[in-house]
Amino acid sequence: MALVMVASVKGAPGATTTALALAATWPRPALLADLDPDGGDVRYRLDAADGEPLGQEPGLLTYAAMIMEGPDVRDHLQELPGGLEVLVGLPSADASEAIDRKWAPVGALLQATPDRDVVADCGRIHPLSPLEELFPYAAALLLVTRPTVDGVAHLRARIEAMDDAPPIYVAVVTGAADSRSAIQVQAVLDSAGLPATVLGRIAYDPVGAGTLAGEWTDRLSRSWLMRSARDLGARLVRDIDRPVVDEPESEPA
Ligand SMILES: Nc1ncnc2c1ncn2[C@@H]1O[C@H](COP(=O)(O)OP(=O)(O)O)[C@@H](O)[C@H]1O
Ligand SMILES: [Mg+2]
Repeated sequence: MALVMVASVKGAPGATTTALALAATWPRPALLADLDPDGGDVRYRLDAADGEPLGQEPGLLTYAAMIMEGPDVRDHLQELPGGLEVLVGLPSADASEAIDRKWAPVGALLQATPDRDVVADCGRIHPLSPLEELFPYAAALLLVTRPTVDGVAHLRARIEAMDDAPPIYVAVVTGAADSRSAIQVQAVLDSAGLPATVLGRIAYDPVGAGTLAGEWTDRLSRSWLMRSARDLGARLVRDIDRPVVDEPESEPA
């Protein structure tokens, strides 16, 4: 089904937290793939469903090692509390050599995962990020930003410079009282003529975000963070499922 890339542009606005929250509240069956080439964080933040620490394997390393044989990603997953399955990421940036030249086949195969969408934490999409190799296979690139002047300036510059990106969406991490930032970010992108859709906000929720780095509880599913992720995910799925309508050719003058 669909591969959805979640990424930041600069700093640490909350891409990993957003990817986790989205995957856990996704409106269809989904798994979380920790693809951050600078090293995955999920394994260090959460325990497995059985209360033990998540292992390094199975995960991206075991999956990529046999990528040419067309592995089934479902054989390389571990389970988080709450039932979300995760493809555990790289132990560190140094380990990304192991995936060198395999990112494209990883993307091609993840996109073809039967019965499940794949929400992928792609880390920071900088100009040299190898994860641009996933672009041809992704249904969406969701960029996470804070609504700061610098954050939005870097977002705009990065989108301007991206070639052959999949449809670009933006999630703005804002507080509950902030109903304007998402609209303002959309206005900035529109005025630059950039084809990016601001989907809305991910709640700035330190308690919810902190819990996502710890234990899954009932309280978490009712947190502002998870509720905002559920809304955002529903909007994103609706948009990527939208039938593509060809622009009618304009009449010659
Ligand atoms: N929606 C949020 N509300 C409050 N704090 C957040 C939120 N998202 C992330 N954070 C906090 O910001 C820090 C960076 O988050 P992380 O998800 O690791 O960002 P990134 O993946 O972009 O580097 C962490 O301390 C995390 O708890
Ligand atoms: Mg991250």
